[in-house]
Amino acid sequence: MAIVLVALTALVLLGAGCGETVGYTEATGDRTNGKELFTAKCGGCHTLADAGTTGTIGPNLDDAFAESRRNGLGESTFVQVVRDQIAYSIEETSTGAPGMPQNLVTGQDAIDVSTYVASVAGTGKAPSPAPAQTTPDKPAKPGAAGDAAAGKVVFTGNCGGCHTLADAGTNGTIGPNLDDKPHSSELVTERVTNGKGAMPSFSETLTATQIADVSAYVSSVSGK
Ligand code: HEC
Ligand code: HEC
Repeated sequence: MAIVLVALTALVLLGAGCGETVGYTEATGDRTNGKELFTAKCGGCHTLADAGTTGTIGPNLDDAFAESRRNGLGESTFVQVVRDQIAYSIEETSTGAPGMPQNLVTGQDAIDVSTYVASVAGTGKAPSPAPAQTTPDKPAKPGAAGDAAAGKVVFTGNCGGCHTLADAGTNGTIGPNLDDKPHSSELVTERVTNGKGAMPSFSETLTATQIADVSAYVSSVSGK
């Protein structure tokens, strides 16, 4: 919440000053395109119930906006906060923790994502079909063959914010480009389960089945 308030204050200051904004005036974005882009580029780091994403690197966006929404701040304010965050996010944190890359989306795409997030974050609406909840939570045998189609959904919702993978349409740059070389299902399972360096462990956020699925998916399409 503190971050939202800081962003709002910054806005007021900006508005009073040079008049330079990042090109947003009305909530004219396309929410459908915004949701697709959010899932591919932001969900790996942010939880947002409506998009069914469960990233934990950045703040939970439902939590971040819920209180301001209760306090009656309008949707157009939220659009501007998100739009500014996309342009002016902090890439290099003082703690060395992964930051948020600037301008992951630009132009109309950025307006679409901002309009989408502003329309759903913190509304407390039940998620529209969330990948995290559609996969039955039954333990999978380590190394068991996963379902690559289900794994693609897991990938775009949790990994694409950091990894480029052509088949999934994602272009994150925090982690290695997964098109560069083939990755075995075993390696993917190991990384996703244990994390490494700036990559978090997903052992708490993904089920064993989802990890098997995403491993099957990445190993079937990486390095192509
Ligand atoms: C690599 C991880 C990462 C990705 C990808 C990412 N973010 Fe972030 N995001 C963060 C982190 C870390 C913060 C908190 C630090 C900051 O404010 O810059 C943050 C903060 C935010 C905030 C402010 C939340 C608050 O509490 O005020 C918003 C809004 C946001 N991100 C939206 C987005 C959108 C939209 C995208 C996709 C275009 C995106 N993020 C992609 C990591 C990420
Ligand atoms: C916050 C960013 C982030 C997220 C989210 C993320 N990764 Fe990573 N990933 C990284 C980084 C950084 C590395 C490099 C780690 C190292 O070797 O130090 C990496 C490494 C990998 C590697 C090994 C690549 C290589 O060439 O060594 C694979 C495979 C991988 N990630 C898959 C995934 C999958 C699948 C997910 C989703 C479940 C995911 N990652 C989510 C940042 C991320």
